[in-house]
Amino acid sequence: MSYDPSLEASVMPTYSRYPVTLVRGDGMLVFDDAGCEYLDFAGGLGAMPLGHSHPRWREAVKRQADMLTMVSNLFFTHPQAELATRLAEVIDIGDAQVFLCNSGAEANEAALKIVRRWGNPQGRARVVALDGSFHGRTIATIAATGQPAKRAAFEPLVDWFEFVPPNDVSALDAAIGDATAAVLLEPVMGEGGVIPLRDDYLRAARSLTSERGALLVADEVQSGSGRCGAWRASSLAGVTPDVVTLAKGLGGGLPIGATIARSELSFASGEHASTFGGGPVPCAGALAVIDVIEEEGLLENARRQGSAITGVLETVLDDQPLVTEVRGKGLLIGVELAEPKAKSVVLALIESGMLATEASPNVVRLSPPLIVTTPHAQTAVEMLAAAIDRVASGAEVSA
Ligand SMILES: Cc1ncc(COP(=O)(O)O)c(C=O)c1O
Repeated sequence: MSYDPSLEASVMPTYSRYPVTLVRGDGMLVFDDAGCEYLDFAGGLGAMPLGHSHPRWREAVKRQADMLTMVSNLFFTHPQAELATRLAEVIDIGDAQVFLCNSGAEANEAALKIVRRWGNPQGRARVVALDGSFHGRTIATIAATGQPAKRAAFEPLVDWFEFVPPNDVSALDAAIGDATAAVLLEPVMGEGGVIPLRDDYLRAARSLTSERGALLVADEVQSGSGRCGAWRASSLAGVTPDVVTLAKGLGGGLPIGATIARSELSFASGEHASTFGGGPVPCAGALAVIDVIEEEGLLENARRQGSAITGVLETVLDDQPLVTEVRGKGLLIGVELAEPKAKSVVLALIESGMLATEASPNVVRLSPPLIVTTPHAQTAVEMLAAAIDRVASGAEVSA
């Protein structure tokens, strides 16, 4: 575990990186520049559903790169048209159209523009979002993010948002009024510490928005694309949003985002755009992701492995006082600690040959590829329990 400080000399220090330089990946494993192997339960922050260098994905991307890389959105391409059709099918919110972009923040920007455009003629300009939420780093999406520390340096921001505590139906009920254009929520709040919204809360969000004439927007950038065991986690609660956003896992490692909206909410010509959005290569990657997830039964695998990992962790960590809760949905799992020691646990894991991430100072997040098998899961659980024991015992972990 090491890195060369010259690697960060010219890079804006927006990320506090772990001290390891990765050079290669293969399935569930990644390798650093010293040849050390890591079991990848970080999964590119949930962006690697098929693991590293899946042969089907690699072939699809290579084939498309050989054929056509970029033509702009002034022309039709088959991969974009096919992907939009497939996404409208799997996301399944009824008659829908898709805007393709390059990231989660952009997918949410498009969703917010859709909300604004729809709400304006009705005098509905307010958006209800949740405390602790995360929707991206652009000016509008950071304004929608319920984490004041992330907003503070950039104020004044757009002032459409009001925040309510998650999983509190009465607070949501009180917040949705005549001026509310939409409720924006993540079915599992990933960056907020892996906090699943309860099914009854999601259902209340749907019925309250429907009753009061507002839209429901599900940010499934982290929880979607199969991560929680369904194409969108909101479907696990039987809830159908008006707008769904995806990114992260969708491209299987290439940058792509998608805003899927009921057709009557669609942008008109000239109202939104992206030079690279929906380019042939990321679309070919995303189509391979969808095919492989379906053909290899990876939604079912995410549900099965996710509940096995969560269940075993609960048992193994039951008498570990540093752990207060194990929670999550499918393969988006958080281990909450009684103290802000998630970084130390992640560093201890890296030392022992496994990658995971912090979802907050108190929460260690596991978001492995959806191809994870039982032996990987068993190894990961053992390594995580050992790393937590090590940190709990006060052992020194190199930073
Ligand atoms: C729920 C959610 N929305 C939006 C984003 C922003 O995505 P991106 O980093 O691709 O812009 C993230 C990223 O973590 C996310 O978890």
